[in-house]
Amino acid sequence: MCGIVGYIGGEQAAPVLLEGLSKLEYRGYDSAGVAVYNESGMHVVKSKGRLAVLEGILDKGEKLPGTVGIGHTRWATHGAPSDVNSHPQVSDGGLFAVVHNGIIENYMQLKEHLMRRGVEFVSDTDTEVVAQMLEHYYRGDVLAAIRQVTQRVEGSYALGIICADCPEKVFAVRKDSPLIVGLSEGQNFIASDVTAILAHTREIVRLRDREIAVLTREGAEFYDEELEPLEKPAETIEWDVAAAEKGGYEHFMMKEICEQPEALLKTISPRIKDGRIVLDDLKLTRADIEKISRVYIVACGTSYHVGAVAKYAFEKLLRMPIETDVASEFRYRDPILDDKTLVIIISQSGETADTLAALREARRQGARTLAIVNVVGSTIANEADDVLYTWAGPEIAVASTKAYSTQLAVIYLIALYMARELGTLTEQELEEYTKALEKLPELAEAALSGRETIQYFASQYFNAKDMYFIGRNVDYAASLEASLKLKEISYIHSEAYTGGELKHGPISLIEEGTLVIALCTCGRLFGKMAANIREVKARGAVVLGLCTEEFAGEMKGVADWQFCVPKVPDFMLPSMSILPLQLFAYYVASMKGCDIDKPRNLAKSVTVE
Ligand code: M6R
Repeated sequence: MCGIVGYIGGEQAAPVLLEGLSKLEYRGYDSAGVAVYNESGMHVVKSKGRLAVLEGILDKGEKLPGTVGIGHTRWATHGAPSDVNSHPQVSDGGLFAVVHNGIIENYMQLKEHLMRRGVEFVSDTDTEVVAQMLEHYYRGDVLAAIRQVTQRVEGSYALGIICADCPEKVFAVRKDSPLIVGLSEGQNFIASDVTAILAHTREIVRLRDREIAVLTREGAEFYDEELEPLEKPAETIEWDVAAAEKGGYEHFMMKEICEQPEALLKTISPRIKDGRIVLDDLKLTRADIEKISRVYIVACGTSYHVGAVAKYAFEKLLRMPIETDVASEFRYRDPILDDKTLVIIISQSGETADTLAALREARRQGARTLAIVNVVGSTIANEADDVLYTWAGPEIAVASTKAYSTQLAVIYLIALYMARELGTLTEQELEEYTKALEKLPELAEAALSGRETIQYFASQYFNAKDMYFIGRNVDYAASLEASLKLKEISYIHSEAYTGGELKHGPISLIEEGTLVIALCTCGRLFGKMAANIREVKARGAVVLGLCTEEFAGEMKGVADWQFCVPKVPDFMLPSMSILPLQLFAYYVASMKGCDIDKPRNLAKSVTVE
């Protein structure tokens, strides 16, 4: 999705903006631009394509002097990627330059209104409406003009604004799209993501919906939507620049795959004390848990696939009806919720538009909400009744890996915690599962250790046109994620099916040489999966069988290739099986020469619907 950076200080703004934008490239974009103010006025330079094109035009910023500016990477929604549709968008009279993340839903109506009054538009974007409206309503007071605009626009926005009449200020306002202010000595920043400014400051203030910030060199002032001044204390970001750098790895994705044992340790170990799960950060009491009669798990993409695993885990451990839903469906299907419903919302970024809307719908209907989030202080984390953080650190690669693993770990923690409160497990089972959970980081290390075998296997099949993943029970849930990982970064067509469904249609896709990856880690279903492997092999498929060590011997006689992962309790198996399959997707994409960290058409955080 789009990225925003703004700067005011003693340095030259353009290089700071370009450097900040480079840290936001991972979010996905198709054009970039900056607006800088200097003594000769406001200068806007923007270009379709990668940031490198803009850096070339500006000679890394050297060609654009000035110490106040805003920058943007755009992921096209309204209007094709082009120079003219790139941000900043500038008002007709050249007074305002605006960068925008989000979507102005009523922009057509507003645009027609302004056009009838003689305002000329040059782009197809919704954002230009904001720039034009600012100038239209401006009567010498920028804050008042911002208020007029935010009262009229519908939709989501994070806006960075500079005005030629106030060259010593940068303005910012947001609704349903993240925006932070970074504070430092003699210089201040705005950004849509903390990574953009982390090299300069760790002191940040998060804007809430409809709050406005006014930045000068000396500091920042904050206002509510009625323009009443606000006190907003700064918070300190704990993780440092190195956490958001590649640290010697070729890609963030590989770095993040390898970070999983450590991320698991950070997520799990503080929450297990003397063999008991302790969720101090949870306000949910035993009485609250006893009241729950149904659980919904709602998320998008990889986070939704965690929900797919969670359904099996919760039903096994809690013996309670669980529904897992993709947020974009949940929000519009009029779900039946009440105060006996627990809605678990899962999101790495904490800003995904559909997931946020699902959370709000759940709260509107009186359900209890619990969010599993990675980004501290994000909107979903702020709005849910309860939040449990995944301590994965910043996840930069678009393809989610360590977020998946740590989200799973939090799901196991919640399920075991609730099982204890409800008494649905024996003390012995609780002890056994808790010990297994504590061992996950170490076992994840082991599951990642056979890297060369996976790399070799990838080298044999990276030219494949299609691949199929099959599995049953939690192996099916893990197959969904393995298939998504492969398709999003390697662009190979891939599907995941349950072993039992093959005969009902998908088996007609199998022909000589089709690659099938069969997840058979669930021991009690190994025989069923072996039968499925034989069925596809009989039709010409080449099969990689993934199983636990205890089935290694049996797998030899069934599949063409095999890979073993450590044995853990059934409901935790996806935490093991996904690891070699993340590596597989990575190696295939790398051998195909794909842009692994920034796959085409994708954005890290999908903040628009
Ligand atoms: O930040 P979220 O977890 O809410 O994001 C949800 C999806 O957009 C995300 O998982 C997406 O599917 C990733 N590209 C998967 O690798």
